[in-house]
Amino acid sequence: MTFTFVTLFSNLIEGYFKDSILKRAIEKDLLRINYLDPRGYSKNKHFKVDDTAVGGGAGMVMNAQSLFDALDDLKKKDENVHIIFVTPVAKPFVQNDAKRLAKKNHVAFVSGRYEGIDERVIEKYADEVFSIGDYILTGGELASLVICDAVSRNREGVLGNSESLEIESFETPLLEAPSFSKPKTYEGLSVPSEYLKGNHSKIRSLKLALSEAKTKFFRPEQLIKYHCVGAMKKN
Ligand code: ADE
Repeated sequence: MTFTFVTLFSNLIEGYFKDSILKRAIEKDLLRINYLDPRGYSKNKHFKVDDTAVGGGAGMVMNAQSLFDALDDLKKKDENVHIIFVTPVAKPFVQNDAKRLAKKNHVAFVSGRYEGIDERVIEKYADEVFSIGDYILTGGELASLVICDAVSRNREGVLGNSESLEIESFETPLLEAPSFSKPKTYEGLSVPSEYLKGNHSKIRSLKLALSEAKTKFFRPEQLIKYHCVGAMKKN
């Protein structure tokens, strides 16, 4: 699978791939990472890629020309590339999106800087637009990386142990039950005794109870969803 990051600041992204699980996947050629700098397409004599907003407003907006040309070039090289824009003004990115996008061959992320991107670029080129949460980052690079990471780990072979993908939070509306590692007691704190007794059916029901408790505390709206799904399955 290929990811192309359309960004003015590829060095913000490159570092992540030098030291993560994804590094191994890149070495095995399961993932390929490309960068495309819109500045290289600017027709401005100073290679400017931003301008003041038409109609006023604070801050600079990434202009249409350099992004139009960069994205035309990208599409010329691969007409099937799936182009994603990241911005706070979008639908939230969720686990189902990560799983769906992991089936694509080539995904490109367009990261905005400054006050955003000329809307005409999004209108013309976006296959999808995502926000990673209700807060404003200084640029889209982190958001692009977050999505790339979440998509990559759903790609066959990227995680060494594919089992760890199976029963994760967000695969169901419930949050995951807590995990513990050895030793069984540390500084007087023990893991729940049921975890130690080896009765797997009892461990499963304890984990379910703990999952429900965590979900009720942290994400009550998810618990409602969980009970609705359960009720629908019964009917
Ligand atoms: N760019 C700035 N903030 C963002 C957010 N919350 N999600 C996606 N892209 C962004």
